[in-house]
Amino acid sequence: MIYDVITLFPELIQDYCSYSITKRGIDEGIISVNTHNPRDYTLDKHKKVDDTPYGGGDGMVLMCQPVFDCYEAVEKKENREFIMLSPQGETFNQKISEELSKKEQIILLCGHYEGFDERIRLGLNPREISIGDYVLTGGEIASLVLIDSISRNIPEYLGKIGSCHNDSFSIGLNGLLEYPHYTKPREYKGMKVPEVLLNGNHKEIEKFRKEESLKRTQKRRPDLLN
Ligand code: ADE
Repeated sequence: MIYDVITLFPELIQDYCSYSITKRGIDEGIISVNTHNPRDYTLDKHKKVDDTPYGGGDGMVLMCQPVFDCYEAVEKKENREFIMLSPQGETFNQKISEELSKKEQIILLCGHYEGFDERIRLGLNPREISIGDYVLTGGEIASLVLIDSISRNIPEYLGKIGSCHNDSFSIGLNGLLEYPHYTKPREYKGMKVPEVLLNGNHKEIEKFRKEESLKRTQKRRPDLLN
């Protein structure tokens, strides 16, 4: 999977990707994360990438030219998705994440400040994705959310750490929340590990986990049961 992130703050993306499982995924060649800065494509001698909105109003708006030229410069693969991160997009979820993990390349366009010149939407026709109903300062954190979540669905990515098959929302759990986990010791501050997890009966353990998963979903996210 190749991620190409168009951002005014490439260090934010590269820094995050130099830790933990993301770093290992890159080192092992399972994913690659490239960054492209529209500021490197501006024709303006002051390297301007944004300007005040026509019609007045607060904030700065990302200009067309640096973004269009930066997008054009990204090498495109056949099986790709081009995504603009925006609070106005469809809300990201596990289903979209799994669907996107089948692509060869994902190009992520991050806004910053007040937003994009509308002609970026009209001219480049991206799929717009939001990570929730709140407004962030830029699309970088949202891009990282997508990179992290999508990569987890690539079978080799999690490697020995385990699979995402039983993560909350996953197909393995029929879209339900995940069951609770326990590790050593058997008892901590009077709280005991449920007996069923200690007896090595895999059928019973599986039944317990399914029930817990269902109970938890009923209590916390009844909307998921529909
Ligand atoms: N940019 C600003 N807010 C955002 C959000 N909620 N999701 C994705 N991108 C954003």
